[in-house]
Amino acid sequence: MNISDAINEYKKNIIESEELNDSLFTKKNKVEWIKALHNRAKRLTELYDRDSTLLDYVEKEINRVEGKEMDDAFNALYDLYLDGFDDAPLMILVLKRMEEYYSKVKDYEKMIVSYSIHAYESHEYISRLDPTVPLNIDLYQAILDLKDHYKEIERPRVRWNFFVAYFNIIVASEFLTGVSPDRVYQYLLDAEALFESSDVQELDKDNQEIVDTIEEIRQGFLVYSERYPILSKKIQDAIYERALVYKKDNIYDIPKMPYLAINRCLYERGEIDKEELLKRYYDYFLPKINTYFDSELNDDRITKAFEVIGTMLKCLSLEGDANVEFYFGVIKKFFRDIEEKTKVTRMTPYINTIIADYVINALPFEHDKEEIEQTLFDNLIRRQAPTYIHSVMVMKIADLIYKYMDKSLLPKMDNIEEFIQNSALLHDIGKSMITDIVNMQRRRLSDFEFLGIKNHPTFGIDIIKKNDLLYEYHDIIIGHHKWYNGLGGYPSDFDNTKSKYKIIIDLITIADCMDAATDSFGRNYKRPKSLSDVLEEFKSSSGIKYSPYFTNLIDQNEELKKELEELTQEKRADYMYKAYIKGKIGE
Ligand SMILES: [Fe+2]
Ligand SMILES: [Fe+2]
Repeated sequence: MNISDAINEYKKNIIESEELNDSLFTKKNKVEWIKALHNRAKRLTELYDRDSTLLDYVEKEINRVEGKEMDDAFNALYDLYLDGFDDAPLMILVLKRMEEYYSKVKDYEKMIVSYSIHAYESHEYISRLDPTVPLNIDLYQAILDLKDHYKEIERPRVRWNFFVAYFNIIVASEFLTGVSPDRVYQYLLDAEALFESSDVQELDKDNQEIVDTIEEIRQGFLVYSERYPILSKKIQDAIYERALVYKKDNIYDIPKMPYLAINRCLYERGEIDKEELLKRYYDYFLPKINTYFDSELNDDRITKAFEVIGTMLKCLSLEGDANVEFYFGVIKKFFRDIEEKTKVTRMTPYINTIIADYVINALPFEHDKEEIEQTLFDNLIRRQAPTYIHSVMVMKIADLIYKYMDKSLLPKMDNIEEFIQNSALLHDIGKSMITDIVNMQRRRLSDFEFLGIKNHPTFGIDIIKKNDLLYEYHDIIIGHHKWYNGLGGYPSDFDNTKSKYKIIIDLITIADCMDAATDSFGRNYKRPKSLSDVLEEFKSSSGIKYSPYFTNLIDQNEELKKELEELTQEKRADYMYKAYIKGKIGE
């Protein structure tokens, strides 16, 4: 085996694991479905072992590879990337070595491609899993540093990467460290200068891809109007001037970005108020909104529709008086119509992320508690079958234990049972931001991905802090992975022992661990345990990880044990079937 074989096999395994996941969303009767489920678990376990072996091999061998073997590896990786199979742990490992090797042999073309893929992968990978890790522009800058070799690069597609690097720096600068808006403006001028340079004009004057990207860079820069208050006068003027170039008598003839920028600048200059700004956006988008439903909604159309929604939402939180209720109502209706048309038939992480972003950004404008809880559950949890089933299971287990417990131990509050149920349903809400990793079963997770998963309580808090009405779930979401005694678990900076909801956190923790440990279908990377084994474990860590009150309560109650047994066995399979095939656990 060599590196390219390993990458090709790895790609084949990604495709197979996606097919296995899809097979669960294909209508069949329950017996057949359970068979598919077991088959998937069995096969994924094999793929898991195989992929881990392949990763080990690549890690061990990549540093000695050179010459033709390296070029083959390069082609295999490029192919993986072009087909849309992102797998950062594998790719970054290989790319680092490629950058080093191709710099040494001065293969500028392959250097540029390696930097480009690496920049893209690490952006996705790092910023999502740990938003506190600063992303720097080194990789983009490394591409731009090769500008002087423009003419030596044979393939137009690779030369195009210079402009893509500029585009990415400009539109994603808020995620990059050390790139101020003033610096961004300089990048814009540099991109234009590069395009006008004789090297580029000679080769690529008529290269449509590059011509289009230069235009996208110019319009992309106008997005800075949304960050107006922090901009220098020079940038503010540049945005307005550059936006005005696109002005037409008929507003519908103006492209979206310039239209938004012109009006946002007018608002910032005090020439129109918030109500007028919202009205102008509304007038502009309304005819477009309706066209979204003319035909089938594909990923591209959904993305565009949500860009519209996102812009309107941002505008709602600007200063000034306006009929926010009305405009939020319009946005919400639009969202519901889209959501209705994109009912989940399979896991579509990309669309799920877009919907999750909307739901979270809309939270500040919602005022009905029940509706908020329902929206979160429907749109963040129900869209991801594994987290959905887990959350429902934790709710069922917690509710069952609650029925047997001494109610006087609970904090005094109205609807305590409902509070416990909702706490269970929302405890893992932070996972909705990283479902592809949470659901990753075809290979072991990287250390960085594990850290990302450990961040899910914090991600959950980031979501609920958008609306005060959700604050009561704070301690449960942040505390459900802490030990009973407060001395272990994560995150370290939350003290669960001081929480007024301590006993509910303890209950959710028990229910959470019980579901995770006994799940024989969903988590094939772990050997599922029998309920009695789990209860033994609870007993041996009682007082340390788990609340002695609950471990004893379960231990001393045969009837409760029997009901828990049933819930974690037959009933789980039943819930899973319903969740995948009907999209909903109806009850
Ligand atoms: Fe969790
Ligand atoms: Fe959980």
